[in-house]
Amino acid sequence: MNKTILKLFENEKDNIPIWFLRQSGRHIPEYFEIRSKAKNFIEFCLNKNLIIESTKLPLKYYDLDAAIIFSDILMIPWAMKRDLDFVKEQGPVLTPLVPNETVIEKKVDIFQLLKPIEDAIHILRKDLPKNVSLIGFAGAPWTLSCYMIEGKGSKDFINTRTAIWSSNKWFMDLIDTLINYVAQKLELQARAGADVLMIFDSWSHMIPNHFFHELGIKPIAKIIEILRSKNVLQPIIGFPFKAGTSLIQYSYESNVDCIALDWSVDLEWALKNLNSSIVFQGNLDPAALIPENNKYLEGSVLSILNKMRNRKLIFNVGHGLTPNCKIHNVRDVINIVRNFQ
Ligand code: CP3
Repeated sequence: MNKTILKLFENEKDNIPIWFLRQSGRHIPEYFEIRSKAKNFIEFCLNKNLIIESTKLPLKYYDLDAAIIFSDILMIPWAMKRDLDFVKEQGPVLTPLVPNETVIEKKVDIFQLLKPIEDAIHILRKDLPKNVSLIGFAGAPWTLSCYMIEGKGSKDFINTRTAIWSSNKWFMDLIDTLINYVAQKLELQARAGADVLMIFDSWSHMIPNHFFHELGIKPIAKIIEILRSKNVLQPIIGFPFKAGTSLIQYSYESNVDCIALDWSVDLEWALKNLNSSIVFQGNLDPAALIPENNKYLEGSVLSILNKMRNRKLIFNVGHGLTPNCKIHNVRDVINIVRNFQ
């Protein structure tokens, strides 16, 4: 076993592993070249060769411990025939689900529709350096339901929140359906050779507190239960973005092996309050990587490393790298982490 991230989960002493959320995106110049080879973003996410190329791209620039399989959380709504499109300057757009009215697709063959991901992983498995872990991922049912009901991003996801209260039976049916599809997408990646799985709940902070356990925790625990019952044993990273004090319950009850902490989390608070038996991932602010010169950068990286000295840490950003983040800053952060004693 020579993968730093896996050693961390197996309690073997090694260096602090490091990778970056959204490391294969638009801040790397060749990304645009790769993307232009596909007709649109969905075709890109379904093209085996382009998945392979973009997954490996950040390794050309950075000394990383993991590569994340190039895909998108919205490939599940796409598979459910939600007419997904990625519009320039606007992001994802889908035909909105109408609560209580739209019939929820129950017979989606995730394994068939997302087969290019499986094919790409088979090749990546052979291509990637032996020390680099391959991370498979999916969006959490709540976050997927947000995009599917709203039909786009939103500042408050008011239609989704209204659906919970007024169309609860229909809404829970949607969540239960998504639980199965998410588990299948993760299973597909694990069986093909992903070393670690990650579940992104990017809109965790939009869950009304009354329903946090029902929508933010139980679906994750259920997905993990399904995976374990199928003997999928890869470590699982959960990312309940901006969940605030609900992180406490999430850390104990979701059954994730690692909790990814967003950039707003005070690590001293997290050390005192969160489940001490799970690994932490995070939590540098990705905005710190945008200025040409950030005099606080080194200090903030060292502060994370020092606070986490006696705890298991996967160093990462506390949300995805942005298109205007600077390559030299990412390299500086990697050097600081690699040289930390
Ligand atoms: O390096 C990587 O992590 C690549 C794989 C990856 C993408 N999306 C590719 C992508 C991952 C892990 C995601 C996750 C994802 N997608 C999330 C969860 C993480 C988060 O940021 O909270 C969410 C909410 C989405 C949905 C999504 N996809 C949005 C809102 C957008 C448009 C705005 C944006 O952030 O870029 C996308 C498009 C998308 N997904 C791009 C990439 C590289 C940009 C497409 C382009 O313009 O070329």
